[in-house]
Amino acid sequence: MVNAAFGRRIVCTLGIVGGRDKVLSLFFCGKRVLGRQQFLSPSQAVVFRMIFDHYCFDMVPQLSRKEAGSYYTPTDVAASLVKWVVRKNSDLLLDPSCGDGRFIAHHSNSIGVEQGVAAARAAKSHAPSAIVHRSEFFIWASDTNKRFECAAGNPPFIRYQTFKGEIRDRALAHCKDLGAEFSRLTSSWAPFLVVTASLLKPGGRLAFVVPAEIGHAPYAAPLLEYLVAHFGEVQIVAVRKKLFPELSEDCWLLYADGFGQRTDQIRFTALDAYTPSNRPPKSGILVSVAEWRSVWKRRLRPFLMPAEVRELYREIATRPDTRRFGDLACIGIGYVSGDNDFFHLRPSVAAGLGIPERFLHPTVRNGRALPRQRLTQETVEDWRRADEPILLLRIPKSLRELPRSVSQYLDTEQGQQAKTGYKCRNREPWYSVPDVKVPDFFLTYMSGKEAVFARNEAGCTCTNSLHSVTLKAKASVSRILQGWTSPFASLSCEIEGHPLGGGMLKLEPREAAEIILPSMAARDAMPLRMIDEALATMRAWRHYGA
Ligand SMILES: C[S@@+](CC[C@H](N)C(=O)[O-])C[C@H]1O[C@@H](n2cnc3c(N)ncnc32)[C@H](O)[C@@H]1O
Repeated sequence: MVNAAFGRRIVCTLGIVGGRDKVLSLFFCGKRVLGRQQFLSPSQAVVFRMIFDHYCFDMVPQLSRKEAGSYYTPTDVAASLVKWVVRKNSDLLLDPSCGDGRFIAHHSNSIGVEQGVAAARAAKSHAPSAIVHRSEFFIWASDTNKRFECAAGNPPFIRYQTFKGEIRDRALAHCKDLGAEFSRLTSSWAPFLVVTASLLKPGGRLAFVVPAEIGHAPYAAPLLEYLVAHFGEVQIVAVRKKLFPELSEDCWLLYADGFGQRTDQIRFTALDAYTPSNRPPKSGILVSVAEWRSVWKRRLRPFLMPAEVRELYREIATRPDTRRFGDLACIGIGYVSGDNDFFHLRPSVAAGLGIPERFLHPTVRNGRALPRQRLTQETVEDWRRADEPILLLRIPKSLRELPRSVSQYLDTEQGQQAKTGYKCRNREPWYSVPDVKVPDFFLTYMSGKEAVFARNEAGCTCTNSLHSVTLKAKASVSRILQGWTSPFASLSCEIEGHPLGGGMLKLEPREAAEIILPSMAARDAMPLRMIDEALATMRAWRHYGA
């Protein structure tokens, strides 16, 4: 007979041997295999599941709030979404990650799935008439024969760095079988929604709180493709004022109706604030899926701007004299030192140690240090006078013999500490920082009001908190400078980049390469006021200055 002590011993041993991820996956796997009827009779299986759940589940190490994506929806929002999806009392409602049950509490004929022990218990007491399965959703979904009239909730937002291992592999394989191919860089919520949708009956509906990343993240595109291929109506409601004030990420709302049909448009509604209502807002624009794919690179954020600005953007983008930044320059990131405190020396320290000048290269450490437009020798002299840690210890990889002063610095306690860091211990020799380039320009990776683009007139290098920009042809320098001084380029950064939270704008190298640099002729004919207003709109949506 399986008893409590036995169950606890199994789980503790697994925890010691394999760590928490292994425990979680082995726990769910064990429960599933043994709970099926391969080794046990049906009644034994039921008893086993009960015992396993009761005694072992509490032993499974619990995830932190962030790891589990546990941020609960305000009850008025939850009630609104449920009111819209449920049409009849007999409709069966699914919340695939029900948390403490605040969605399923609004409809008696509900099923909630929840991985967290305490949350599942709370859900049972909040929604006594609902069935709550304490389970991992993707395992539960692949086992269940239940089909639903509707689904509502707020799926866990677990980024790819944490959404990994067997759970992620199973989720992605399940989605692939359903025709939605996600890369391994996906966050958990998108596969959650695809699998949830697949459990609907024909004609079914869903209404979910979703991260605002649905408006720009590459991994959100397979979800939207799945939705338009499987629902007759799809609506995304962008909400500027935060639904979750304590989170840096914004949340939007997703409504889909008519499972089993398809559509070639997405209704997109931009609201300043969400007022709970029993149905999605009627306002909004109809975005053609074809245009969303081809013109806007499968992003919805550009539809936050007025139609005339989008029209202008399309027009400028297709002019023969327009260039994308990536046509003229290679955009990469700066070096990764492995230990900035050790490799970045103050001039006074370098002099005290006697490190020869040829081993020291002035560097731009971060975007805050970068002046607008030009980084000159005078600025570097100012940094030196202020004794800022701007000298990168740059030791060529091929150098056989190091000067004594350098060897002594490497042998210091700080050097020995740096040597053990991940980057340093995985390169040979550990003290030679790779990929140190002297680019033509620098561009900020993360920016406040706007991205800073500055010419490197001082021969500096930069860390990976900046983009290092090298011209493809030296002759294009004036064309690049001309394009970057246009406010249209700033608007293009907002459209091609993405919000990072906390009001910041982030430009990945692939996004920076897409920035549009208009010609002088196009610039002269531009309605500047319209561009300024569009810039203000996009900044307001990323909460700049809020
Ligand atoms: C964002 S919360 C939402 C809870 C509830 N739907 C709400 O909005 O108030 C996400 C929930 O998903 C649960 N969860 C995370 N990963 C899960 C998984 N793989 N299977 C089932 N539940 C999971 C978390 O424990 C958390 O309670």
